[in-house]
Amino acid sequence: MKQVKGTADFYNKTAADWAEKGYDGGPGVPCLLDFIKEYEPGSRFLDLCCGAGYETQRIHACGYEVVGIDFSEESLRIAREKNPAITFYNDNLLNDYSYIGKVDGIIIIAGLVHIETENLRTAFLQMHSVLNENGRLFITVRDGVGKIPERSVTTIDGEDYDRNFIAHTLNELIKESDGLFTFEQEVGFDGTVWRNYIFKCR
Ligand SMILES: C[S@@+](CC[C@H](N)C(=O)[O-])C[C@H]1O[C@@H](n2cnc3c(N)ncnc32)[C@H](O)[C@@H]1O
Repeated sequence: MKQVKGTADFYNKTAADWAEKGYDGGPGVPCLLDFIKEYEPGSRFLDLCCGAGYETQRIHACGYEVVGIDFSEESLRIAREKNPAITFYNDNLLNDYSYIGKVDGIIIIAGLVHIETENLRTAFLQMHSVLNENGRLFITVRDGVGKIPERSVTTIDGEDYDRNFIAHTLNELIKESDGLFTFEQEVGFDGTVWRNYIFKCR
Protein backbone atom coordinates (compact mmCIF):
# COMPACT_ATOMS: atom_id res chain seq x y z
CA MET A 1 0.00 0.00 0.00
CA LYS A 2 1.21 3.52 -0.84
CA GLN A 3 2.48 5.47 2.19
CA VAL A 4 0.56 8.63 3.14
CA LYS A 5 2.77 11.43 4.40
CA GLY A 6 1.76 13.61 7.36
CA THR A 7 1.49 17.27 8.36
CA ALA A 8 5.20 18.08 8.72
CA ASP A 9 5.95 16.37 5.38
CA PHE A 10 3.16 18.40 3.72
CA TYR A 11 4.61 21.70 5.01
CA ASN A 12 8.17 20.67 4.12
CA LYS A 13 6.98 20.05 0.58
CA THR A 14 4.94 23.28 0.26
CA ALA A 15 7.01 25.68 2.41
CA ALA A 16 8.35 27.69 -0.53
CA ASP A 17 4.81 28.33 -1.87
CA TRP A 18 3.51 29.54 1.50
CA ALA A 19 6.61 31.71 1.92
CA GLU A 20 6.11 33.32 -1.47
CA LYS A 21 2.51 34.27 -0.62
CA GLY A 22 3.25 35.26 2.97
CA TYR A 23 6.23 37.51 2.28
CA ASP A 24 4.70 39.15 -0.80
CA GLY A 25 1.39 40.28 0.66
CA GLY A 26 0.38 42.49 3.57
CA PRO A 27 -0.36 40.99 6.97
CA GLY A 28 -2.11 37.64 6.54
CA VAL A 29 -4.20 38.50 9.59
CA PRO A 30 -4.46 42.33 9.76
CA CYS A 31 -5.96 42.45 13.28
CA LEU A 32 -2.84 40.68 14.59
CA LEU A 33 -1.02 44.01 14.46
CA ASP A 34 -3.71 45.67 16.63
CA PHE A 35 -3.19 42.90 19.21
CA ILE A 36 0.60 43.25 19.14
CA LYS A 37 0.59 47.03 19.41
CA GLU A 38 -1.32 46.92 22.71
CA TYR A 39 1.90 45.62 24.31
CA GLU A 40 4.62 47.70 25.99
CA PRO A 41 7.89 48.17 24.10
CA GLY A 42 10.29 45.37 25.07
CA SER A 43 7.55 42.73 25.30
CA ARG A 44 8.42 39.23 24.15
CA PHE A 45 6.29 37.02 21.88
CA LEU A 46 6.16 33.43 20.68
CA ASP A 47 4.94 32.79 17.14
CA LEU A 48 3.79 29.18 17.53
CA CYS A 49 3.46 27.26 14.26
CA CYS A 50 5.36 30.11 12.65
CA GLY A 51 5.79 28.37 9.28
CA ALA A 52 8.20 30.33 7.07
CA GLY A 53 8.22 33.20 9.56
CA TYR A 54 6.38 36.05 7.83
CA GLU A 55 4.15 36.95 10.79
CA THR A 56 7.20 36.51 13.04
CA GLN A 57 8.96 39.08 10.88
CA ARG A 58 6.01 41.51 11.18
CA ILE A 59 6.08 41.27 14.98
CA HIS A 60 9.84 41.86 14.99
CA ALA A 61 9.41 44.85 12.66
CA CYS A 62 7.10 46.43 15.29
CA GLY A 63 10.13 46.51 17.62
CA TYR A 64 9.30 43.51 19.84
CA GLU A 65 11.38 40.47 20.71
CA VAL A 66 9.94 37.32 19.15
CA VAL A 67 10.86 33.65 18.77
CA GLY A 68 9.22 31.08 16.48
CA ILE A 69 8.45 27.37 16.82
CA ASP A 70 7.40 24.97 14.07
CA PHE A 71 7.99 21.29 13.28
CA SER A 72 8.55 21.74 9.54
CA GLU A 73 12.31 21.84 8.96
CA GLU A 74 11.98 23.35 5.47
CA SER A 75 9.67 26.13 6.72
CA LEU A 76 12.21 26.88 9.45
CA ARG A 77 15.08 26.92 6.96
CA ILE A 78 13.28 29.69 5.02
CA ALA A 79 12.30 31.52 8.23
CA ARG A 80 15.94 31.56 9.42
CA GLU A 81 17.28 32.62 6.03
CA LYS A 82 14.84 35.55 5.84
CA ASN A 83 15.20 36.55 9.50
CA PRO A 84 18.75 36.00 10.74
CA ALA A 85 18.08 38.14 13.85
CA ILE A 86 15.19 35.92 15.05
CA THR A 87 15.59 32.56 16.84
CA PHE A 88 13.46 29.72 15.47
CA TYR A 89 13.10 26.33 17.17
CA ASN A 90 12.13 23.01 15.63
CA ASP A 91 9.60 21.45 17.98
CA ASN A 92 6.12 20.03 18.26
CA LEU A 93 3.65 22.31 20.06
CA LEU A 94 2.48 19.31 22.10
CA ASN A 95 5.99 18.95 23.61
CA ASP A 96 7.46 20.87 26.54
CA TYR A 97 9.18 23.88 24.91
CA SER A 98 9.69 25.85 28.14
CA TYR A 99 13.43 26.07 27.27
CA ILE A 100 12.50 29.15 25.18
CA GLY A 101 11.90 31.13 28.41
CA LYS A 102 8.84 33.20 29.32
CA VAL A 103 6.86 35.32 26.86
CA ASP A 104 4.16 38.00 27.23
CA GLY A 105 2.05 36.89 24.29
CA ILE A 106 1.64 33.90 21.99
CA ILE A 107 0.25 34.03 18.48
CA ILE A 108 -0.88 30.79 16.91
CA ILE A 109 -2.28 31.39 13.45
CA ALA A 110 -3.72 28.33 11.70
CA GLY A 111 -1.72 26.07 14.01
CA LEU A 112 -4.49 24.50 16.09
CA VAL A 113 -6.10 23.48 12.77
CA HIS A 114 -3.67 20.55 12.86
CA ILE A 115 -4.40 19.54 16.45
CA GLU A 116 -7.02 16.91 17.27
CA THR A 117 -9.62 18.02 19.80
CA GLU A 118 -8.37 15.42 22.31
CA ASN A 119 -4.91 17.07 22.17
CA LEU A 120 -6.08 20.68 22.58
CA ARG A 121 -5.74 20.48 26.38
CA THR A 122 -2.05 19.52 26.06
CA ALA A 123 -1.51 22.37 23.59
CA PHE A 124 -3.07 24.87 26.04
CA LEU A 125 -1.04 23.47 28.98
CA GLN A 126 2.24 23.93 27.08
CA MET A 127 1.27 27.48 26.02
CA HIS A 128 0.27 28.35 29.58
CA SER A 129 3.62 27.10 30.91
CA VAL A 130 5.61 29.70 28.93
CA LEU A 131 3.33 32.72 29.43
CA ASN A 132 4.02 35.40 32.02
CA GLU A 133 1.27 36.41 34.42
CA ASN A 134 -1.44 38.27 32.46
CA GLY A 135 -0.05 36.78 29.24
CA ARG A 136 -2.42 36.54 26.28
CA LEU A 137 -3.02 34.25 23.33
CA PHE A 138 -3.99 35.30 19.82
CA ILE A 139 -5.55 32.23 18.17
CA THR A 140 -6.70 31.94 14.56
CA VAL A 141 -8.74 28.81 13.81
CA ARG A 142 -11.02 27.46 11.12
CA ASP A 143 -14.50 27.51 12.67
CA GLY A 144 -16.42 24.24 12.64
CA VAL A 145 -16.36 20.73 13.99
CA GLY A 146 -13.90 17.96 13.19
CA LYS A 147 -11.59 17.00 10.37
CA ILE A 148 -12.20 18.45 6.90
CA PRO A 149 -11.13 15.70 4.46
CA GLU A 150 -11.03 17.93 1.36
CA ARG A 151 -8.59 20.31 3.10
CA SER A 152 -6.55 17.46 4.57
CA VAL A 153 -5.82 15.02 1.78
CA THR A 154 -3.90 15.90 -1.36
CA THR A 155 -1.44 14.45 -3.86
CA ILE A 156 1.67 16.38 -4.88
CA ASP A 157 4.22 15.03 -7.38
CA GLY A 158 2.69 11.56 -7.05
CA GLU A 159 2.98 11.50 -3.24
CA ASP A 160 -0.13 11.34 -1.04
CA TYR A 161 -0.37 13.69 1.95
CA ASP A 162 -2.82 13.99 4.84
CA ARG A 163 -2.14 17.22 6.75
CA ASN A 164 -4.99 16.54 9.18
CA PHE A 165 -6.92 19.80 8.84
CA ILE A 166 -9.34 20.16 11.77
CA ALA A 167 -11.96 22.82 12.49
CA HIS A 168 -12.65 23.97 16.07
CA THR A 169 -15.53 25.90 17.61
CA LEU A 170 -15.04 28.63 20.19
CA ASN A 171 -16.85 26.43 22.72
CA GLU A 172 -14.30 23.64 22.19
CA LEU A 173 -11.44 26.07 22.78
CA ILE A 174 -13.10 27.48 25.91
CA LYS A 175 -13.76 23.98 27.28
CA GLU A 176 -10.26 22.64 26.60
CA SER A 177 -8.55 25.73 28.07
CA ASP A 178 -10.76 25.79 31.16
CA GLY A 179 -8.85 26.75 34.32
CA LEU A 180 -5.81 27.90 32.31
CA PHE A 181 -7.22 30.70 30.14
CA THR A 182 -10.25 32.95 30.02
CA PHE A 183 -11.80 33.87 26.68
CA GLU A 184 -11.49 37.65 26.25
CA GLN A 185 -12.89 38.54 22.82
CA GLU A 186 -13.24 37.77 19.14
CA VAL A 187 -11.47 40.22 16.82
CA GLY A 188 -11.28 40.98 13.10
CA PHE A 189 -14.21 38.88 11.88
CA ASP A 190 -14.07 39.06 8.07
CA GLY A 191 -17.14 37.01 7.15
CA THR A 192 -15.15 33.87 6.30
CA VAL A 193 -14.83 30.55 8.13
CA TRP A 194 -11.72 31.85 9.90
CA ARG A 195 -11.96 33.26 13.43
CA ASN A 196 -9.49 35.19 15.59
CA TYR A 197 -9.82 34.85 19.36
CA ILE A 198 -7.97 36.42 22.26
CA PHE A 199 -7.57 34.41 25.47
CA LYS A 200 -6.00 35.63 28.70
CA CYS A 201 -3.96 33.61 31.26
CA ARG A 202 -5.74 32.82 34.50
C1 LIG B 1 -1.36 26.59 7.99
S1 LIG B 1 0.35 26.74 8.47
C2 LIG B 1 0.34 28.31 9.28
C3 LIG B 1 1.69 28.99 9.24
C4 LIG B 1 1.71 30.42 9.77
N1 LIG B 1 1.32 30.48 11.18
C5 LIG B 1 0.80 31.36 8.98
O1 LIG B 1 0.19 32.21 9.58
O2 LIG B 1 0.72 31.27 7.76
C6 LIG B 1 0.47 25.62 9.84
C7 LIG B 1 1.87 25.49 10.41
O3 LIG B 1 1.77 24.75 11.62
C8 LIG B 1 2.87 23.84 11.70
N2 LIG B 1 2.45 22.74 12.61
C9 LIG B 1 1.37 21.94 12.48
N3 LIG B 1 1.27 21.10 13.52
C10 LIG B 1 2.32 21.37 14.34
C11 LIG B 1 2.78 20.84 15.57
N4 LIG B 1 2.12 19.85 16.18
N5 LIG B 1 3.87 21.37 16.15
C12 LIG B 1 4.55 22.39 15.53
N6 LIG B 1 4.19 22.92 14.35
C13 LIG B 1 3.08 22.43 13.75
C14 LIG B 1 3.11 23.41 10.27
O4 LIG B 1 4.40 22.91 10.06
C15 LIG B 1 2.85 24.72 9.52
O5 LIG B 1 4.03 25.49 9.38
